[in-house]
Amino acid sequence: MQSPFAGKNIVIGVTGSIAAFKVASWVSALTQEGADVSVVMTESACRFVTPLTFAALSGRSVLSDMFTAEEARSISHVQLGAEADLLLIAPATANTIARIAYGLADDLLTTTVLAADAPVFVAPAMNSRMLMNPATQRNVEILRDLGHGIIEPDSGMMACKTEGPGRLPEWEDVREQILAALSIQDLKGEKILITAGPTREALDPARFLSNRSSGKMGYALARMAKRRGAEVVLVSGPCSLKPPYGVELIHVQTAYEMCQAVMDSCHDSSVIIKSAAVADFRPVTVASEKVKKEDAEFVLKLEQTIDILKELGERKEENGYLLVGFAAESCHLHASGEEKMKKKNLDLIAINDISGESTGYEVDTNQVILLDQHGFSNLPFTSKEETADLILNRVNQLLSEKRMQ
Ligand code: CTP
Repeated sequence: MQSPFAGKNIVIGVTGSIAAFKVASWVSALTQEGADVSVVMTESACRFVTPLTFAALSGRSVLSDMFTAEEARSISHVQLGAEADLLLIAPATANTIARIAYGLADDLLTTTVLAADAPVFVAPAMNSRMLMNPATQRNVEILRDLGHGIIEPDSGMMACKTEGPGRLPEWEDVREQILAALSIQDLKGEKILITAGPTREALDPARFLSNRSSGKMGYALARMAKRRGAEVVLVSGPCSLKPPYGVELIHVQTAYEMCQAVMDSCHDSSVIIKSAAVADFRPVTVASEKVKKEDAEFVLKLEQTIDILKELGERKEENGYLLVGFAAESCHLHASGEEKMKKKNLDLIAINDISGESTGYEVDTNQVILLDQHGFSNLPFTSKEETADLILNRVNQLLSEKRMQ
C-alpha cells in the first residue's frame, strides 16, 4: 500500500529546543514514506542541530534565513507556504509560539506560516513551567483559535531534569494527527465501536484458554476509522499492540467482560464492528489454586460463552446501528459466511480465510471476502491497514444507503 504521505509537500519548521534532535528521525520517516520534506530552521535551532543533518535526511537544502541570496533564488517564503500540503512546527518554542500567535513575520519560518494555505500543526516542546505559564497557555489558545492544530506535549522527565508536561510526543502519535488532516473526514459524526484481539478464559490462576488472534485487524480498523474522523471506542482483549492515537480503549480479558463492555457502549454507536476472536468455550469451573501436575489427569469441562455478535444482531433494530461481523473460516468460506450473516442478523460480514499463512492470525496482511445485501465481493490481498480502509468504504456506503431508506 502506498503511504498517504507519498508525493505530499510537507514543511517542517524546527525551532530552538533541545528536542530538535528528535525531529531528525521524523524528517527521515516522512522522506522514507515518499513525502517531499522541506525543513525550515530558526537561527537558534541551528545551534542545537546542524542544518546538514536535516539536509542529509530530507535530501534538500535546509532553509534558515530568508535573506540569503542562494535561498531567495531557489524558493521564496510565499511559494514555500503556498505550495505546502501541510506545515508542522516541531519542536515549537514558547518564543516561536508567541511570534506566530501575534502574526509576526521576522524570519523565514514565521513568514512561511503567514503565507501558508495549508493545515498548520504546532508541537510545543519546552520546560514545564514555561509551558504552563499563562502567557504561553494564552498564546497556544490563540493558535487554536486561528485554526492551527496543536500537538499536545507528553509528560515525563525533561532534559532539564524536571518532570512534567512539555516533551515532544512519539512520532507514531504525531503521524496519526497530521495524517488525519490529509485524509478525507468522511466518517466525521459517526460513533464506531470496534472489538479486537482474543479473549482469555481462565482455568486456574496460572493458565487460560485463548486463540492466535493478535488484534492487528481490529486495531487497524480503529486507527483508520479515527483517521477518517470517527469517534472510536475500541474494546480489546489482551494483546501487545500500541493503542491507536485518539481512540478510547477499553481493556477486557474474558468473553463475558467483552460482552459487558460492548453492551454498555452499543446504544449510542452508529456502527459496530466485531473483529475480535471471542473464545467460544470457557471452563465450567475455574480452579482457585494452581492445578498440580501430580493430579495425573486433568479433564476440562467446557461451556459455551455468550455469542456477543448474535446478541447485538437481536438488538440491532431497536438501537439502529449498522452491524459488521467477521467470519474466521478455513473452508467453505462463502457458505459459512452467508450462514453467519443470516444467523447473527448482520449488515456486512468480512470473511477471513485463516488457513493461509499470510491472511489470517498474527500477520500484517489479509485478504477478505465481503458479503452484504448486494452480494459477495473480493477485496485484494493487501495490508491489514488497507483492508480496514476498504471495509470502512463499504461501511460508509451502507450507512448512506440505510439513511436514504
Ligand atoms: N463472536 C462473538 N461472540 C462469540 C463468538 C464469536 O461476538 N462468542 C463474533 C466474532 O467477533 C465474529 C463473529 O462472531 O465477528 C464470527 O466469529 P467466528 O469465530 O468466525 O464464528 P463463530 O460464530 O464463533 O462460529 P464457529 O466458531 O462455529 O465458526
